[in-house]
Amino acid sequence: MPASRPASLSGRPVAISGLGAYVPKRVVTNDDLAAVLDTSDEWITQRTGIRERRVADEGLSSSDLGIVAARAALTDAGLPPAEIDLVITATISPDRIMPATASRVAKECGCGGAGAYDLSAGCSGFVYALAMAAGAVAAGLHDHVLVVGAETISRMLDWEDRSTAVLFGDGAGAVVVSPCDVGGTAQASEGRFPGGILGFDLGGDASGEEYLMIPAGGSRLPASRATVEGRQHFMKMNGGEVYRFATRVVAQSAGRVLGRCGLTVDDIDVFVPHQANLRIIEKAVKKLGMDEDRVYTNLQKYGNTSCASIPLCLSEARAEGRLKDGDIALLMGFGAGLTWGACLLEWGRGRDPEHERG
Ligand code: UT7
Repeated sequence: MPASRPASLSGRPVAISGLGAYVPKRVVTNDDLAAVLDTSDEWITQRTGIRERRVADEGLSSSDLGIVAARAALTDAGLPPAEIDLVITATISPDRIMPATASRVAKECGCGGAGAYDLSAGCSGFVYALAMAAGAVAAGLHDHVLVVGAETISRMLDWEDRSTAVLFGDGAGAVVVSPCDVGGTAQASEGRFPGGILGFDLGGDASGEEYLMIPAGGSRLPASRATVEGRQHFMKMNGGEVYRFATRVVAQSAGRVLGRCGLTVDDIDVFVPHQANLRIIEKAVKKLGMDEDRVYTNLQKYGNTSCASIPLCLSEARAEGRLKDGDIALLMGFGAGLTWGACLLEWGRGRDPEHERG
């Protein structure tokens, strides 16, 4: 391993110091959906790769899921919640339009006094939030930022619309972003401790804003009897357009962030794409020229959990030994806006465990 990794992020080094995830217990299979919708397990599996998804019980909201994931991330970081300076919740299914879902997450996690806001960037939200957290910690604006991707998209779906209802699921994932010790510990002269966020590529193409949206409920089209009767509070998607967009931007954005960080596709050990559709992922991986065995997917079990999909993958990949300290990981989000966000990082806390305990 080289003594240091090139990075497009300037300022002090930052790393993910804690990771957690949570999915609700209730499993809804493709056959369950085929019993109430004009669809089939065969269609869903062949077109998307999804076999089942989780749906939160009535009464639970995105913050409820996010709180469980966030507490796990704090425990994993070994950080007292009071040390968190800022909580960012990335979500397309917030508890309410206001206040921010992040406020309840902060309160229930014991992050008293921390700033809290929600970030809306479609399914790219987690990578965007990670970028905002990394930039703020690198610049010294904050020391520890809790980034949560939390979704109860089941509440935003039209369960009579087979073109969207079969695609999504509920879940949450969270990370803590902290400064790290690259080059800063006694042992640094003998080698460094793995870990560090290297860089980002964030972007968007608003010409596609109509392709994925919840039309009503905001200031553009406030709630009314007509919007409710017209089912305008549910997600609408032009699947074909989003599909074409996604297969185009993933390879482009990955190429940009790799270039900025001075790395190549061959340096990537683990690719964690947003879990929208296996066909999108396979096409993008082919364009990237990457071996399929380096790609992590779990959409088969969870469907598209939007802002939760990437941290949910990170958590499972680490638990399965697929994501190890020192691995170079590429995270790639895309979704409504239309937006995309890529992040390159070296997995690990970037700290000497002995130094941490001392
Ligand atoms: O998180 C980011 C946001 N979302 C995405 O990334 C999704 C991107 N798009 C996609 O993944 C794909 O476009 C879909 C999976 C949504 C659709 O796959 P497709 O191969 O593009 O199918 P299609 O929309 O072209 O529809 C093909 C046929 C249509 O029937 P006709 O017109 O050919 O008779 C649809 O009505 O499949 C029909 N169809 C279904 N049939 C059974 C659409 N949904 C279903 C369904 N079950 N659930």
